[in-house]
Amino acid sequence: MEVIVTSRPQELGRLGADAVAAALRVRERPAIGVATGSSPQPVYAELGRRVAAGELSFAAANVFMLDEYVGLPPGDPRRYRSEIDRDVVARLDVDPARVHGPDGSAADLPAECAAYERAIADAGGIDVQLLGIGSDGHIAFNEPGSSLASRTRIKTLTAQTRADNARFFDDDPEAVPRHCLTQGVGTIMEARHLVLVATGRGKAEAVHHLVEGAISALWPATILQMHPHVTVLLDDAAASRLQLGSYVREAWAAKPAWQGL
Ligand code: F6R
Repeated sequence: MEVIVTSRPQELGRLGADAVAAALRVRERPAIGVATGSSPQPVYAELGRRVAAGELSFAAANVFMLDEYVGLPPGDPRRYRSEIDRDVVARLDVDPARVHGPDGSAADLPAECAAYERAIADAGGIDVQLLGIGSDGHIAFNEPGSSLASRTRIKTLTAQTRADNARFFDDDPEAVPRHCLTQGVGTIMEARHLVLVATGRGKAEAVHHLVEGAISALWPATILQMHPHVTVLLDDAAASRLQLGSYVREAWAAKPAWQGL
């Protein structure tokens, strides 16, 4: 796991975009995993800049979402698919027909989850997966207590997550759906490169567990310690509880340029 701490938000965007750009070069039809929420925004902004400058193209890529609320009707602006349409499809030259996500309004949710797993496998797996982290340590919507081997399935959101996401629902946690469909922890662990972005003091405890805690379903993100290729991009506030803070800064400053991410 490589942990990179920077005080410049643009640097987070640049590094995240570098990882996505590298994945776009790997295969003829690459698969890019996207996250919703605040954390990946600097990455999408930088990717948008590169696409506009003609430096990068998503035309051949499949795009896979992490999760979706259950019960919001198609077209609802608070659906994660709507968010991805605004943040990713509108800014990058992604083919909307190649954006895949679990449909939280499907009549048969278990069948929908199984079909989503098949779609990822049929695309040859995910080359790079962007991730945020919940203040309770969730990745995608794998809340504390999730099986670390889980696959795409329905989950119940914690009160903490519903409070954190109330900002998208007129500040009313009760308006946040109680259920979601989410890639499982085991599904996420199969992506070839995981890039997790976390900013702000509210993430500091979860980041401490992610990087330095014991692997436990209580902090699902800790399983990333077992993945062979993880990049964690942090601002100073999110890194503020790291015991290894000085070491990871020294290691990054001394990293040979040829190594890449
Ligand atoms: C979003 C997702 C979540 C978020 C996490 C952090 O698709 O899967 O795990 O990444 O809740 O959200 P932000 O970035 O808004 O703090």
